[in-house]
Amino acid sequence: MANRKLVAGNWKMHGTAESIGEIVRIAAGVPTGVDVALCLSATLIERAARAVPGFAIGAQDVHSMERGAFTGDVAAHQLHDARASFVIVGHSERRDGHRESDTQVRAKAVAAQGAGLKVILCVGESLEAREAGCAISIVSAQLDASLPPSPVEAVAYEPIWAIGTGRIPSLEDIGEMHAALRSRLIAAYGAAGNVVRLLYGGSVKPSNAAEIFGVADVDGALVGGASMTAADFLPIVEAAAES
Ligand code: PGA
Repeated sequence: MANRKLVAGNWKMHGTAESIGEIVRIAAGVPTGVDVALCLSATLIERAARAVPGFAIGAQDVHSMERGAFTGDVAAHQLHDARASFVIVGHSERRDGHRESDTQVRAKAVAAQGAGLKVILCVGESLEAREAGCAISIVSAQLDASLPPSPVEAVAYEPIWAIGTGRIPSLEDIGEMHAALRSRLIAAYGAAGNVVRLLYGGSVKPSNAAEIFGVADVDGALVGGASMTAADFLPIVEAAAES
């Protein structure tokens, strides 16, 4: 049986108090039959969560330690205390921009799960790896090394070259990658690996969402730019609900 779809928005370093109205519009327009979350900057999490009770608000990163002298970082229990229910770990903008290793990503996932947060773990290849024909082996190895011992809520396959560029892999390439990642999840978690949602991310738009959701083993999407407005995000959520 197909997994229920999850569509998560990643607002990255955008959003202020003025954005709460848009978050309310998004939450109000979510149809039944699909799970939706918005992952926001830490500054907005609690305000957003109070504005849309019952709607899932998430964070975009977390520190792996429970507390301590880590200036500027936020711990998993602090995110939970701010009413976050999801957290993204291992986004390529963290792996590349902050030199996060697979080991650190796994430690973050473990910390997040320990605080009761649902983890969306990101993996994805560079353009060089895609062109060299080794995308599947590289992303599979990244997943194996980043997965925590307990099943994550979702894995997001995000080819780095597709993020914010308007380019997406062929549907065949997405299907091939998701099938490979599913087999890694089953190798890691047994039958529980079947119910980890496999999201595709990278330039998902209202115009391409339905065809992406039609690919086998695509259980939803992680959406950046197109998650910032109800006008763009809700058609993607509706496509997921209808698929
Ligand atoms: P994009 O970003 O949808 O703007 O390509 C996706 C992401 O970085 O999660």
